[in-house]
Amino acid sequence: MSEPISTKSGIQEFYDDPVVVGSYLALRVREPFNTVLHERQIGFLNRVIGSLQPRRVLEVAVGPGRLSAEVRAASVMVGMDGSPNMLTEARRRTRERGLAWNFVRADGFSLPFATGSFDLIYTLRFIRHFDRGGRETLYRELKRILRPGGHLVLDAQNRLVSLPHRLEQGMQNYKVYDELWLRDELVAELAGAGLVPREVEGIMRRFAWQRRLNRLRYLRLASPARLLIRALEWSPDRNPSTWMVLCQAAG
Ligand SMILES: C[S@@+](CC[C@H](N)C(=O)[O-])C[C@H]1O[C@@H](n2cnc3c(N)ncnc32)[C@H](O)[C@@H]1O
Repeated sequence: MSEPISTKSGIQEFYDDPVVVGSYLALRVREPFNTVLHERQIGFLNRVIGSLQPRRVLEVAVGPGRLSAEVRAASVMVGMDGSPNMLTEARRRTRERGLAWNFVRADGFSLPFATGSFDLIYTLRFIRHFDRGGRETLYRELKRILRPGGHLVLDAQNRLVSLPHRLEQGMQNYKVYDELWLRDELVAELAGAGLVPREVEGIMRRFAWQRRLNRLRYLRLASPARLLIRALEWSPDRNPSTWMVLCQAAG
């Protein structure tokens, strides 16, 4: 079995492949399960932006603009990614919607922004693709460019839910390294990096049922599947598959 791609250059190369860029959005939002996951992520981000009212917002690793095209506007919105092909798509999608994003090509490990530049940074499906050493470097960079007391939003996968699912699917289907955490490990890792978790919200809360419902799409029942998967998000979040985390940069 081939090992997942885990080097910085390997990951960057994988995501700049025109085939990956061209299929990314459909993969992330088309199936009912992924549509609801996407909606929940946007909902979390928009609630945070609405309540914190940040002036300067940075999205790290924007990809093709899955999130930038839908989040609430701020006075200054900067998106960065290392992939020229992803950035072309992000520019196209946000321009189409008349949104005033500024995009920059850069390496997430060495961000071209001054210390304390942003009030809010968010980055989904990015940090989790790196090992602990890589993540520590990313946290340092993110914390550096946040103003003291500024906020970071990221996502993380629950090992108790995702690992059994991945083993069942076959690990060979997971091409890129993707970290899984226990909740306490995640909180300790972030707090240790000076990014204190203020809110940890579980989403995709009845994963096993939600994955089963997702199969209804094969029977042309994608709409009812989406409704039911969404309805299950009203249950308590004791053992969700994903966490959305709001952290605050320690002063
Ligand atoms: C899984 S995609 C996530 C895209 C988007 N955040 C989302 O949630 O849909 C990962 C993104 O990270 C970018 N990326 C990978 N390594 C990078 C690096 N070292 N610096 C900047 N961007 C990088 C890729 O180009 C890709 O757009």
